[in-house]
Amino acid sequence: MDRRMIFILGIAVCALLQNTNGQKVHTVGNELGWTIPPGGPIAYDTWASLQDFNVGDILLFNFTNGEQDVAQVTKEAFKTCNTTNPIWSSKNSPANFTLSAAGEYYFTSTIDRHCVQGQRLAIHVPGPEPSPSPEPSRGPVNYTVGDKLGWIVPPAGDFAYAAWAHWKTFLVGDTLVFYFVNGTQDVAVVTKEAYDNCDTNNTIAVHKNSPTYITLKTSGEHFYTSTYSHHCDLGQKLAINVTTTNLSPGGANTPGALGPSAFAPSVNSAPSKAMFGFTAFFLSIAMAFPIF
Ligand SMILES: *[C@@H]1O[C@H](CO)[C@@H](O)[C@H](O)[C@H]1NC(C)=O
Ligand SMILES: *[C@@H]1O[C@H](CO)[C@@H](O)[C@H](O)[C@H]1NC(C)=O
Ligand SMILES: *[C@@H]1O[C@H](CO)[C@@H](O)[C@H](O)[C@H]1NC(C)=O
Ligand SMILES: *[C@@H]1O[C@H](CO)[C@@H](O)[C@H](O)[C@H]1NC(C)=O
Ligand SMILES: *[C@@H]1O[C@H](CO)[C@@H](O)[C@H](O)[C@H]1NC(C)=O
Ligand SMILES: *[C@@H]1O[C@H](CO)[C@@H](O)[C@H](O)[C@H]1NC(C)=O
Ligand SMILES: *[C@@H]1O[C@H](CO)[C@@H](O)[C@H](O)[C@H]1NC(C)=O
Repeated sequence: MDRRMIFILGIAVCALLQNTNGQKVHTVGNELGWTIPPGGPIAYDTWASLQDFNVGDILLFNFTNGEQDVAQVTKEAFKTCNTTNPIWSSKNSPANFTLSAAGEYYFTSTIDRHCVQGQRLAIHVPGPEPSPSPEPSRGPVNYTVGDKLGWIVPPAGDFAYAAWAHWKTFLVGDTLVFYFVNGTQDVAVVTKEAYDNCDTNNTIAVHKNSPTYITLKTSGEHFYTSTYSHHCDLGQKLAINVTTTNLSPGGANTPGALGPSAFAPSVNSAPSKAMFGFTAFFLSIAMAFPIF
């Protein structure tokens, strides 16, 4: 296992062990702290997707004074890594930031190039009261699996697709769209047993042409992986729950943490130059590590 997988596993375990009641202190990145993450921005996206933020919680940024700092910036500044005019900043670790209201928060480091190298965090703090009115019904949605990452052996291990699926509501009639490079990946529809054991000898269906559109026709659990050697073991696997109503386990259809889609204009986004740019970026990380 490489360092990033260990890191991702570590934060996932810690996140699962956290108490979900009362005001919480969220140590950003857990043991990694607040730094330039080894795997790029997906590290903090993944961390955020596994947190349960509430109004009143505290973000604790733990870093090395002088080498790092932390700044809250606007969404626009976050997207462009413009740290000229932060909303709030601190050069003293540990820096505590209280999430005093519901909404979106964006953080980065103002130190040269740290933002573009992935030291940035986008989070969503849901409102205190879930909407009492029924969710408005929605039409079918096309979900691009992995968003900009596409369908590959994810550099961060299988938490990448777990994080991607975490806050989404999949309804019967929605479509999963898998983007990949023909001849280097495929999409295998498998049973739970095959998924759990990474047994790709037994598939329900295999799709070899990108993009692959799979319309969700039945409710319940659905499992996907690749028949390519070791791709499943390395984390190219996706499990989702499909429902017929608009109620998700989170109680609301709001995105929680922004997750890997934080930079996406919408989940319905068609492949764009940005998508292929990011995919190339992740592929380059993946290729830099012999494990992939
Ligand atoms: C900050 O990180 C250092 C080094 O990992 C650790 O010793 C320390 O306990 C951390 N502090 C907090 C407040 O988490
Ligand atoms: C960064 O933001 C400041 C204002 O906050 C603006 O004046 C400046 O032009 C921006 N820089 C870039 C490169 O967009
Ligand atoms: C930050 O929060 C932690 C956890 O509540 C606390 O131990 C620490 O004293 C706080 N630090 C500051 C500077 O307020
Ligand atoms: C989903 O994608 C298909 C194929 O590109 C398209 O025909 C359809 O309109 C899309 N549906 C939505 C809801 O975007
Ligand atoms: C899959 O098939 C290969 C070749 O027939 C065999 O060596 C392997 O043990 C099979 N794997 C499983 C999990 O059944
Ligand atoms: C993959 O192959 C199919 C069938 O040959 C083709 O229609 C599709 O455009 C190819 N996709 C890519 C991304 O090259
Ligand atoms: C689907 O939901 C059931 C019941 O909440 C849960 O036990 C199961 O782990 C979920 N499966 C996936 C793939 O999320």
